[in-house]
Amino acid sequence: MNPAVLGGAEPENAPSQLPLVDSFGRAHRSLRLSVTDVCNIRCVYCMPEENPEFLRNENLLTFDALERFVRFMVSRGIDNLRLTGGEPLLRKGLPQLIARLAAIPGLDDIAMTTNAMLLAESAKQLADAGLRRINISLDTLSEEVFERISRRKGLNKVFAGIDSALAAERLAVKLNALVLRDVNLGGVLELVAFAGERKIPLRFIEFMPLDAERAWSTQRMVGGAELRNIIAERFGTLEPITPEDPSRPSQDYRLATGSVVGFIDSVSKPFCGQCDRLRLTADGKLRNCLFGQQEWDVAPFLNEDSSAALSGLEKELHGCLQAKFAAHGIADPNFRQPDRPMYRIGG
Ligand code: 5AD
Ligand code: SF4
Repeated sequence: MNPAVLGGAEPENAPSQLPLVDSFGRAHRSLRLSVTDVCNIRCVYCMPEENPEFLRNENLLTFDALERFVRFMVSRGIDNLRLTGGEPLLRKGLPQLIARLAAIPGLDDIAMTTNAMLLAESAKQLADAGLRRINISLDTLSEEVFERISRRKGLNKVFAGIDSALAAERLAVKLNALVLRDVNLGGVLELVAFAGERKIPLRFIEFMPLDAERAWSTQRMVGGAELRNIIAERFGTLEPITPEDPSRPSQDYRLATGSVVGFIDSVSKPFCGQCDRLRLTADGKLRNCLFGQQEWDVAPFLNEDSSAALSGLEKELHGCLQAKFAAHGIADPNFRQPDRPMYRIGG
């Protein structure tokens, strides 16, 4: 415990060079930036079927504000950034934003998570702007199952998006799959084969209680251990790969075929102890956890570079870090799902 790490009583004035350490000693290096809460599909594990609550355009942070915030966070120790949504490709001018962020000294790497519906036409432009990593959501190879999950048509667009991403230079591609027991469990082996044939690392992410309809249950979720058994039965032993960076939540394995399959067991094996992430919602609320109940509004401090704005940012950041809990506590009897569902936080 060291609540004084960020300077305790006087974070005002000059920008602090102290690292982003919370009260459990975790240093924060990753920032997830939601650029919009709007989405063009309606995944059951994320959105409501009808009338999602979207922000009004005037409440979205501008590119100037986003750049200012990222510069500030990089000056404080953040070195990797992921753009999220909603669907980030729906944010107008996204390649221009990426180019501005990629020019920030000290930012090693810009990544994005997307449903890829609009990627076919934009992958090259995004890579040219400086996007280095892209995670594409792919839960099924079947159009019928895709429609049950996303309540929209268009898996062919996702496939076209994957092809364009693979063709783009200097863009590392990964696939993310979320398995719901009653919907897409039967297609897991096909997904593994699809990713393996294309040499794309595939990651299975456990369903978390962040869906707008609050229909999450441990029965509906399929844990990583069960998936590993299913995969091992078909593809043989999964050989664990030692992670280069232990703060990454995924445990990756190599199959005998050479392909890489990873698991983000956020519910069954929480990685909160190594968490190095902070998040900013599209309307400028800073969050220390997907499951946090509290937010710190930094939007008012992103309109100018004044010292008053800077000290406002410092204060909110300090509050946010110091309030971070040790773990998400999904298994606790008094766990309460956050008010914001996934699309309004940023995945
Ligand atoms: N639980 C876990 N992951 C989720 N995502 C969206 N909603 C949830 C949820 N309830 C993830 C999916 C999707 C990405 C954009 O966000 O993996 O691919
Ligand atoms: Fe859209 Fe992503 Fe939510 Fe699916 S998970 S509805 S693609 S924001």
